[in-house]
Amino acid sequence: MVEKREYTGEYPEKRLYLPGPTDVRPDVIQAMAEPMFGHRMDRMTDLYTTIVEDTKEVLGTDNETIILTASGTQFWEATTLNLVDEHMLVATCGSFSERQANVAERLGKSVDRIEYEWGQAVKPEDIRKALEASDKTYDAVGVVMNETSTGVRNPVEEIGDVVAEYPDTSFVVDAISCLGGDYIDIEAHNIDAIFTSTQKAFAMPPGLAVCTVSDAAYERELEKDSASWYGGFQRCLDYYERKGQTHSTPAIPIMLAYRTQMKHMLEETHEARDARHREMAEYTRDWAREHFDLFAEEGYRSQTVTCVENTQGIDVAATIEEVSNTYDFVFSNGYGDIGEQTFRIGHMGEHTLETIKELTDAIEDVAGL
Ligand SMILES: Cc1ncc(COP(=O)(O)O)c(C=O)c1O
Repeated sequence: MVEKREYTGEYPEKRLYLPGPTDVRPDVIQAMAEPMFGHRMDRMTDLYTTIVEDTKEVLGTDNETIILTASGTQFWEATTLNLVDEHMLVATCGSFSERQANVAERLGKSVDRIEYEWGQAVKPEDIRKALEASDKTYDAVGVVMNETSTGVRNPVEEIGDVVAEYPDTSFVVDAISCLGGDYIDIEAHNIDAIFTSTQKAFAMPPGLAVCTVSDAAYERELEKDSASWYGGFQRCLDYYERKGQTHSTPAIPIMLAYRTQMKHMLEETHEARDARHREMAEYTRDWAREHFDLFAEEGYRSQTVTCVENTQGIDVAATIEEVSNTYDFVFSNGYGDIGEQTFRIGHMGEHTLETIKELTDAIEDVAGL
């Protein structure tokens, strides 16, 4: 039995270096404090059409885009229901990709996995072999672009080019912990659905999930009996087309925050945002190499989260706690079974090289490196 622990509101402010949630700009937080309005008012159409069209511009795509009140997990379910009748191929290489496969199984789909050891990346040639060898037609191939548990960045561009050779197979990409911090040309690589949550590299409060949908995926859903109601591509997109709104009541304050943050992201440009994230990732990797090692396979390392292999055997939990107490910086332990063997630094969202250096200095100080 969990006991109630009263939320006091009296907590020290912490700077977040987590692979989500990440810190949110003060004016974005402030944007949420508007008087409420109705989700069927014209003002809602102004807000929703603004954030949808700005998102397409930020992501550099003309693909239809859905913004729903949900966490990103919603789109594991919705893409599976909308695109998979029977068979799905999922490449697993860490906790989140395993969960993607698990979600599809829970929804009653027949899932074939291509399994990699944690830390290894998904290889396009393995996807090709699996597609060639199979006597079934997969309705979809699912890949996690940025495996948050291991710091692996999978080559989804090349995988998409392989899946493109199978026109009856959709390509579904979970880009939850990297979209907005690791630029991808969505339309050039046959990606039918790619989704994220707002609390990661978009640097917004949690509560919204974003998914872009290709025309082919929209059409394919038309043939499915099982399509999701809440995350149904047609329901969401047709409603947008007719009314410029969402089919049910959205988290309006978070959408107001989203509007403000999109303007910041447009102003920065995706090229500059991508370059800033690359610079932070390269610095963090160099630092990790100097003091520890890197958990993710060489050549496939994430641009938004670095998973550091704890080769020095430091007490990860104690270091995290001490850095938090002394510096008010919070970074992340390893995930699941690699909890003490690794730790993770999220370098995404609004971070800069300077703020990342402040964290690595703090870790050096506390761990006596
Ligand atoms: C790769 C990946 N997929 C899915 C999720 C789940 O996202 P959410 O908590 O927004 O549902 C996460 C969360 O960390 C993630 O990193």
